[in-house]
Amino acid sequence: MPLQISSLEEYQSVYQQSIREPEAFWAAQAETFYWQKKWDKVLEWDFKKPDVKWFSGGKLNITENCLDRHLESKGDQTAIIWEPNDPNETVKKYTFRELHAAVCKAANALKVLGIEKGDRVCFYMPMVPELAIGVLACARIGAVHSVVFAGFSANALADRIKDATCKMVICSDFNKRGQKVIPVKSVVDEAIALGCSSVETVLVHKNTGGDIVWDEKIDQWWHNIVDIQTPQCPAEPMDAEDMLFILYTSGSTGKPKGVVHTCGGYMVYTTFSFKNVFQYKEGDVYWCTADIGWITGHSYIVYGPLSAGATTIMFEGVPTFPDAGRFWQICDKHKVNQFYTAPTAIRALMAKGDEFVDAYDLSSLKVIGSVGEPINEEAWHWYNEKVGKKRCPIVDTWWQTETGGIMITPLPNITDTKPCYAAYPMPGIQPVLLDSDGNEITENEAEGLLCVRFPWPSMLRTTYGDHERCKNTYFAAFENHYFTGDGARRDADGRYRIIGRVDDVINVSGHRMGTAEVENAINEHSNVVESAVVGYPHAIKGQGIYAYVIVNETVSDETVFRTEVCEVVRREIGAIAKPDKIQLVSGLPKTRSGKIMRRILRKIAANDTENLGDVSTLLNPDIVESVIEGRLKE
Ligand code: PRX
Repeated sequence: MPLQISSLEEYQSVYQQSIREPEAFWAAQAETFYWQKKWDKVLEWDFKKPDVKWFSGGKLNITENCLDRHLESKGDQTAIIWEPNDPNETVKKYTFRELHAAVCKAANALKVLGIEKGDRVCFYMPMVPELAIGVLACARIGAVHSVVFAGFSANALADRIKDATCKMVICSDFNKRGQKVIPVKSVVDEAIALGCSSVETVLVHKNTGGDIVWDEKIDQWWHNIVDIQTPQCPAEPMDAEDMLFILYTSGSTGKPKGVVHTCGGYMVYTTFSFKNVFQYKEGDVYWCTADIGWITGHSYIVYGPLSAGATTIMFEGVPTFPDAGRFWQICDKHKVNQFYTAPTAIRALMAKGDEFVDAYDLSSLKVIGSVGEPINEEAWHWYNEKVGKKRCPIVDTWWQTETGGIMITPLPNITDTKPCYAAYPMPGIQPVLLDSDGNEITENEAEGLLCVRFPWPSMLRTTYGDHERCKNTYFAAFENHYFTGDGARRDADGRYRIIGRVDDVINVSGHRMGTAEVENAINEHSNVVESAVVGYPHAIKGQGIYAYVIVNETVSDETVFRTEVCEVVRREIGAIAKPDKIQLVSGLPKTRSGKIMRRILRKIAANDTENLGDVSTLLNPDIVESVIEGRLKE
């Protein structure tokens, strides 16, 4: 197992060593894993291209590290606890031995269905054990998984399937979320009908039962094919730099991009960070409430915890079903020791009242975590007092799909915590603040653009099928730096506070959305001429989506129009991207070169119109007043 830091002095000295001798530091961590063949070189890098290789020449299979290597010492320990949507249904548990067998069977099934090393397999599934099993089965045989969050629409799913030319889609028949039963297979059918010609098989897991349309030519039942396989499957030797998975995420321009993570470095970093950030100890029960459709689920439900030999909970349902006490009921029921969730969930549950949290015994908790968006002070204190009872350090973890693992965070009971501060860099992570000209801001008590100046093992390697895009998005803004897209502040003691995105990405309930993506969707409405989307402060979601829309023909019923626009967005992207507010405008403030002045629109949406700055240089300064007048309050 990689090093687990246990004191402040140790953190400080390990951090210094990791910066002074990064290769020696990461080699020492990597030594603690099972490699089929040791690497030739620890690190080669060039941020200009970018070209980053960790442990090249090394051969491994991440599933041997997540499963096989634990069999002897903890084969009978629970690896996954699955908590169903309905608390009255039966919990499922998989020991490492059972999970190993289940993964091998699924891996053999994939092979029978013609999946080979390097093929891409798309997942569109609820949080059922078969999702984790399927993902690991891909890794077992060297297939590349691309998990798409099951809240995305058929159009969005089709885009992702096509971009990665997936050979297979694995889905469920229906999903359960609270009291709702959501059709899933039919969404996949719709996506396939949109021209996903690369898909040869749709493998369907029967989750609820119920009528679905069946196409004998491509549809296969999971149980028919997986259940009859043998529970052994050799682990494909993977180069450390072979692709492990693709995960789509939104940027400020164009369609979502497929962030590519590779096998060796990702394994080392997610395991190392999991052990340290959560201070996981043998026998602990760890729960991350994320969905495996996002990076948090990949790194900190599946790979990090399992590789560290931890017991990890997978929860199928939602925080408010059957009531707003569900998270705390699960913590109590499974005696959860480390709990990791998002500020949106904390704010939503806080708003429901303390009685839900007070009703349960949370004395098992040792560490509580937050991820995905800035946590506001009020939510931080509520989490600290009501959930952590002031005895559980809050780890406010900052990271991204692209970083693969947690980058900046307190270490519980080792470094201090401060509300709203993600605090200190992890060992091996070298964050810097730059000004907009690319000069490094070296002093403390300063604000700047958050960049990283040295590679770390789990960083993205490329964006699938478009390396230029990776270069332009992350490595072109500032020479020799990875640019995160976030602004940050460093306090007098060197702690980092993440302020938020400085690009046209918004963070709605911890879901990352490109404003251009939402605008493109809105523009699909036949009566929309042009639109501009910005984020605005939202009490529960962190940011809400505010859309300014110019229409072609006068709208007779604005309510109907707004519903139609939301429906178009739901169809194009998914319900998570539906605008909260849609304002009809006669024009949008633009620069003389025709660029929409989002800065002004953001201020109007936030009702911060006192200091709009100089608008006289705009192409159409008069429009500003009319947009302000029409601002939607509620
Ligand atoms: O703006 C930052 C915000 O979420 C973005 C990354 O989103 P995504 O790739 O979807 O990954 C989310 C889960 C790792 C970042 O650029 N963000 C993430 N964590 C924090 C955060 N903002 C403030 N505080 C955090 N702890």
